[in-house]
Amino acid sequence: PVVVFVTADGRRIECEGQSGDTVMHVAVANGVEGIIGECGGSMMCATCHCFVDSEWIARAGSRKDGETDMLECAAVAPRSTSRLSCQVRLNEEMDGLIVHLPEMQI
Ligand code: FES
Repeated sequence: PVVVFVTADGRRIECEGQSGDTVMHVAVANGVEGIIGECGGSMMCATCHCFVDSEWIARAGSRKDGETDMLECAAVAPRSTSRLSCQVRLNEEMDGLIVHLPEMQI
Protein backbone atom coordinates (compact mmCIF):
# COMPACT_ATOMS: atom_id res chain seq x y z
CA PRO A 1 0.00 0.00 0.00
CA VAL A 2 1.07 3.57 -0.68
CA VAL A 3 1.45 5.94 2.25
CA VAL A 4 1.20 9.66 1.58
CA PHE A 5 3.18 11.73 4.07
CA VAL A 6 2.26 15.41 4.22
CA THR A 7 4.97 17.57 5.79
CA ALA A 8 4.20 20.40 8.18
CA ASP A 9 4.88 22.82 5.30
CA GLY A 10 2.50 21.02 2.96
CA ARG A 11 4.75 18.83 0.78
CA ARG A 12 3.37 15.42 -0.20
CA ILE A 13 5.74 12.46 -0.19
CA GLU A 14 4.37 9.17 -1.52
CA CYS A 15 6.05 5.95 -0.40
CA GLU A 16 5.30 2.35 -1.25
CA GLY A 17 5.09 0.03 1.75
CA GLN A 18 4.25 -3.62 2.26
CA SER A 19 1.31 -5.00 4.19
CA GLY A 20 2.52 -5.67 7.70
CA ASP A 21 5.00 -2.77 7.68
CA THR A 22 4.50 -0.03 10.21
CA VAL A 23 4.10 3.54 9.00
CA MET A 24 7.25 4.44 10.95
CA HIS A 25 9.20 1.77 9.07
CA VAL A 26 7.99 3.05 5.69
CA ALA A 27 8.98 6.61 6.61
CA VAL A 28 12.45 5.68 7.87
CA ALA A 29 13.13 3.27 4.98
CA ASN A 30 12.34 6.05 2.52
CA GLY A 31 14.24 8.79 4.32
CA VAL A 32 11.13 10.81 5.07
CA GLU A 33 12.25 13.67 7.29
CA GLY A 34 9.85 14.31 10.10
CA ILE A 35 9.69 10.78 11.48
CA ILE A 36 12.68 9.69 13.53
CA GLY A 37 11.67 6.45 15.24
CA GLU A 38 14.54 6.58 17.67
CA CYS A 39 13.49 3.57 19.78
CA GLY A 40 12.98 1.35 16.75
CA GLY A 41 9.28 0.89 17.33
CA SER A 42 9.06 -0.21 20.94
CA MET A 43 6.84 2.72 22.02
CA MET A 44 9.58 4.27 24.13
CA CYS A 45 10.37 7.55 22.38
CA ALA A 46 7.43 9.34 20.68
CA THR A 47 9.74 10.56 17.88
CA CYS A 48 7.48 8.79 15.40
CA HIS A 49 4.46 10.97 16.26
CA CYS A 50 2.10 11.61 13.37
CA PHE A 51 -1.42 12.83 12.75
CA VAL A 52 -3.49 10.36 10.78
CA ASP A 53 -5.73 12.17 8.29
CA SER A 54 -9.27 12.31 9.66
CA GLU A 55 -10.56 10.40 6.61
CA TRP A 56 -8.31 7.50 7.54
CA ILE A 57 -8.40 7.46 11.29
CA ALA A 58 -10.91 4.60 11.56
CA ARG A 59 -8.98 2.37 9.15
CA ALA A 60 -5.74 3.03 11.03
CA GLY A 61 -7.16 1.18 14.04
CA SER A 62 -7.15 2.26 17.63
CA ARG A 63 -4.29 3.25 19.88
CA LYS A 64 -2.41 0.49 21.64
CA ASP A 65 -2.11 0.17 25.42
CA GLY A 66 0.27 2.85 26.64
CA GLU A 67 0.30 4.75 23.35
CA THR A 68 -1.74 7.69 24.65
CA ASP A 69 0.64 8.12 27.60
CA MET A 70 3.68 8.06 25.33
CA LEU A 71 2.07 10.57 22.95
CA GLU A 72 2.02 13.05 25.84
CA CYS A 73 5.84 13.02 25.58
CA ALA A 74 5.80 14.08 21.93
CA ALA A 75 7.50 17.37 21.00
CA VAL A 76 4.30 18.70 19.42
CA ALA A 77 1.13 18.43 21.50
CA PRO A 78 -0.96 15.42 20.48
CA ARG A 79 -4.46 15.74 19.03
CA SER A 80 -7.29 13.23 18.79
CA THR A 81 -5.85 12.00 15.48
CA SER A 82 -2.33 11.52 16.87
CA ARG A 83 -0.69 8.11 16.64
CA LEU A 84 2.74 6.71 17.18
CA SER A 85 3.47 5.69 13.60
CA CYS A 86 5.36 2.61 14.84
CA GLN A 87 2.03 1.31 16.12
CA VAL A 88 0.14 1.77 12.84
CA ARG A 89 0.54 -1.32 10.69
CA LEU A 90 -0.37 -1.31 7.00
CA ASN A 91 -2.85 -3.62 5.36
CA GLU A 92 -4.28 -3.69 1.83
CA GLU A 93 -7.24 -1.54 2.85
CA MET A 94 -4.88 1.26 3.78
CA ASP A 95 -3.62 1.96 0.26
CA GLY A 96 -3.42 5.75 -0.05
CA LEU A 97 -3.23 6.35 3.71
CA ILE A 98 -2.59 10.02 4.42
CA VAL A 99 -0.39 10.87 7.40
CA HIS A 100 0.44 14.41 8.47
CA LEU A 101 3.82 15.09 10.04
CA PRO A 102 4.33 17.40 13.03
CA GLU A 103 6.73 20.37 12.75
CA MET A 104 9.24 18.65 14.98
CA GLN A 105 9.90 15.42 16.86
CA ILE A 106 12.45 16.50 19.47
FE1 FES B 1 9.70 5.07 19.29
FE2 FES B 1 7.50 4.81 17.83
S1 FES B 1 9.55 4.61 17.21
S2 FES B 1 7.67 5.23 19.92
